[in-house]
Amino acid sequence: MEDGHLPVLAEEVMTILSPRPGSLQIDGTLGGGGHTERILEASTPDGRVLGLDADPAAVARVKARLARFGDRLVVRQADFRDVGTVAPAAGFAAVDGLLLDLGLSSFQLADADRGFGIRTGGPLDMRFDTSRGAPASELIADLDAAALAALFRRYGEEPRADRIARAIVRERSVAPIDTAERLAAVVERAAPAAPGRRRIHPATRVFQALRIAVNDELGALEAALAAAMDLLRPGGRLVVLSYHSLEDRIVKRFVAAERKGCICPPAIPVCVCGRIPRLRALGPQPVVPTADEVAANPRARSARMRAAERLAA
Ligand SMILES: C[S@@+](CC[C@H](N)C(=O)[O-])C[C@H]1O[C@@H](n2cnc3c(N)ncnc32)[C@H](O)[C@@H]1O
Repeated sequence: MEDGHLPVLAEEVMTILSPRPGSLQIDGTLGGGGHTERILEASTPDGRVLGLDADPAAVARVKARLARFGDRLVVRQADFRDVGTVAPAAGFAAVDGLLLDLGLSSFQLADADRGFGIRTGGPLDMRFDTSRGAPASELIADLDAAALAALFRRYGEEPRADRIARAIVRERSVAPIDTAERLAAVVERAAPAAPGRRRIHPATRVFQALRIAVNDELGALEAALAAAMDLLRPGGRLVVLSYHSLEDRIVKRFVAAERKGCICPPAIPVCVCGRIPRLRALGPQPVVPTADEVAANPRARSARMRAAERLAA
């Protein structure tokens, strides 16, 4: 076990990336460093990895845990939306692989000071990078009921968004909702779990929605995918692991568009846009974990992997 966070679909990721000695790879989401560790081991003696994480705690942890790889591992505390500038500046301008393992790590979920976990409690923060942006408690305090409901619907696909938003506005006038426990309790009272669905906490979708909004997760993903097209050398491989349908849809559409190339309307008989296919899809779309992996690592349950290869310009 990689120090508290098991890397998801690790064998499948390694099969796609097939890191060789001398190769350059980017791990945009270091987390506990599980995938990066495998890439470095497989590309012994001189393959190199640039690892990014927005969370300073993840960066410090991985630097210490993987110090044995010396300068084969270059670590930067950065948002992967900026990979297009961060990677070339670190000497990774043309790479053989780029991995994004989205969402949050087991460390973050378990850390009561971060407010990610419904059951772990703590201040309602939810930022990957706590030095930037506003914590989730500010959204909960400031948005009106319509805006809260729209957020829960859009990023959480929450069917009871209006009722929950109204309850939040009512309850926050009594006392601030600034801890994960209090938000979870308010949501649970407003929209209790249906019988038979008790294993999934009724606030799960609300927590997901807030996390996505606080970190602009979908915007970051779109920016990183676009940047990957310039960073991957021909034959270089893109691997994305997503954990909910909103992320997976973005990756699916991106790969489909880059496979197709041309964006001319079907009514135009000859291509005038000049766009050519830049990606070739690899393997089944998507790859999901086996029942054995899910039994060993329940966090892998919702994972979907999509992979593609950069075609020559
Ligand atoms: C699922 S974990 C990665 C786990 C890792 N693959 C492993 O095997 O240990 C996701 C990590 O991505 C980071 N992260 C999420 N969004 C990010 C972003 N936009 N930029 C940089 N890091 C991000 C989180 O802080 C978290 O540490």
